[in-house]
Amino acid sequence: MNIHRGGIETLDVSKTRRYLAENDVDVAIIRMPADTQHTLWDSGLGGFWKIAADTLTQYSIELPSAELSPPDNPEIEIIECEDLRYLCGIDEIISTAFKGYSNHYYSNPVVPKESISEGYKEWTRSCIASGKPGHKCWVAIMENRVAGFMACAAEDGKAQIALNGIEAASRGRKIYGNILRKALDYYKKAGYESFSGYTQAHNLAAQRAWVREGFSIRGAFVTVHINSLLSFSAMEKVKISAPAGANPAASMHEASLRVFEKVFKGKKLLITSCHIEVFAEAAGDLEATVSFPLAGIRTGAVFATVKAHRADGVLSMLLYFNLNF
Ligand SMILES: CC(C)(COP(=O)(O)OP(=O)(O)OC[C@H]1O[C@@H](n2cnc3c(N)ncnc32)[C@H](O)[C@@H]1OP(=O)(O)O)[C@@H](O)C(=O)NCCC(=O)NCCS
Repeated sequence: MNIHRGGIETLDVSKTRRYLAENDVDVAIIRMPADTQHTLWDSGLGGFWKIAADTLTQYSIELPSAELSPPDNPEIEIIECEDLRYLCGIDEIISTAFKGYSNHYYSNPVVPKESISEGYKEWTRSCIASGKPGHKCWVAIMENRVAGFMACAAEDGKAQIALNGIEAASRGRKIYGNILRKALDYYKKAGYESFSGYTQAHNLAAQRAWVREGFSIRGAFVTVHINSLLSFSAMEKVKISAPAGANPAASMHEASLRVFEKVFKGKKLLITSCHIEVFAEAAGDLEATVSFPLAGIRTGAVFATVKAHRADGVLSMLLYFNLNF
């Protein structure tokens, strides 16, 4: 699945539409300030399948003036990961700590849930192995096992938490607070200006720990997914061509229905919606690819994308179908 990520202040509709089409994006993950999110909902991106996937809060602490407390949990030892030796323990926590954790990926039905924790593992591994100064990871060792970890990234004097987790059985014992204190002490001594954490608004445990260590709230952001679904297919793609005729959208619509009848032969098919995005005037014959990014035939729902190009290679239109059985 071709997933692109980026942060924006406000949405530029034509730039976004062009970007999605030129890069064959399946899912665009956009993070924007919560108070400008209306630029997305008001926009002409109306046709794309959009998901308000989560709301994040940002907390920060200014390090030069921060009065930090030392770690105070004698049950644990906090160690900086200088190589990948603690990775198995960290992976184990990621596999369990984030199971069912409701972040923005969970809001999107086309993102395979199994890939979410794999992405987190890769993220933490690259933080440890990046070799970038300021990219650090600490683990809390309790009774010879990894009970928690915190991976951080830093740039231009600003450090932030990349990912952290505490094993479920050991929560509420300030293990997180203690790793945090270790990280803050490191970045303060290393001369960094600030340290930030971002989390889902509903993650009260993380926010309480930050407040306890002197952080204050700095911002609120939303994460929006645009499912443009322009390259991924869970089933074999089908190529078709049809003359643009007097009504190119109707002509592509009809040609698509013929494909569905063939592909889902013997099934009682119901088209619950079709949205058409026109990019360029159609002429002559249109060559199209039909893909099926969400193919839950057993659950009764299939999503089909039809991407139609003119003979000169210009993208002419996209048709999005919701099919039910
Ligand atoms: C968030 C997390 C790291 C906290 O770890 P922890 O070791 O239990 O945290 P601490 O013991 O240091 O304290 C956390 C604070 O949250 C509170 N807390 C714990 N669970 C809570 C809950 N379910 N709801 C509200 N507050 C909670 C604690 O009482 C404490 O606050 P206090 O000092 O005001 O009493 C841990 O819950 C976790 O791994 N969660 C899953 C992964 C995750 O959320 N990662 C963070 C993404 S930003």
